[in-house]
Amino acid sequence: MKIIVAADYDEMSKLAANHVAQWVRQNPKAVLGLPTGGTPLGMYRNLIEMHRGSNLSFKDVTTFNLDEYVGLEPHHSNSYRYYMYENFFKHIDVQEHNVNIPDGTAEDLEQECIHYEDKIRNAGGIDLMVLGLGNNGHIGFNEPSDRFPATTHVTKLDESTVQANARFFERIDQVPRYSITIGIGSIMRCRRILLLASGKAKARAISAALEGPVTPSLPASILQFHPDVTVILDAEAASKLTNAV
Ligand code: PGA
Repeated sequence: MKIIVAADYDEMSKLAANHVAQWVRQNPKAVLGLPTGGTPLGMYRNLIEMHRGSNLSFKDVTTFNLDEYVGLEPHHSNSYRYYMYENFFKHIDVQEHNVNIPDGTAEDLEQECIHYEDKIRNAGGIDLMVLGLGNNGHIGFNEPSDRFPATTHVTKLDESTVQANARFFERIDQVPRYSITIGIGSIMRCRRILLLASGKAKARAISAALEGPVTPSLPASILQFHPDVTVILDAEAASKLTNAV
């Protein structure tokens, strides 16, 4: 595991964008796994700038989003589909048919999960998965639990996640309680992982994930067993690490 500590959010975002851009330039047909949330917004802004200013093309890239709320229509301003188009896809040249996001409005959610997992497999698997980290140590919406879920599944959000995400909604009772998320097994099958975290609120989860025991009660800790992980943190998120470089 390679751990890089940036001075602040802006530097973390630039380093993350460079990491993704380098991979896409070397592998124009790359399959990317992508997160939502506050953390990757700066990375997306930098990637858009590189697309506009230095010929970074996503024309042949395939994307798989990590998760989606259950019950929000695709055009709902809080759906992750909407987020991805507003913050990234509509500003670059990715092709609509190469974009994959779980459908949280599917009539048969179990079938949608199987279908999503099949689509990842049929695309040849994910080359580079970018992950944010929940304050509670979740990756995707794989919440603390007594086991590591293997594949894409429907999950109930932790109360702490509902509270953390309430900032994007007018009222907390509007935050969906369920989501579809790629599983921990699906994440572990990705060839490379890029984990991002910024701010003091993530410091405890980062130190537990990177330096604590591997346990499903802190889902990101499983990344200690992945052979190719790069972690880019800002100084605040790294502040509780004992071995940070
Ligand atoms: P954040 O969320 O980037 O908005 O902090 C990360 C997550 O919950 O995975």
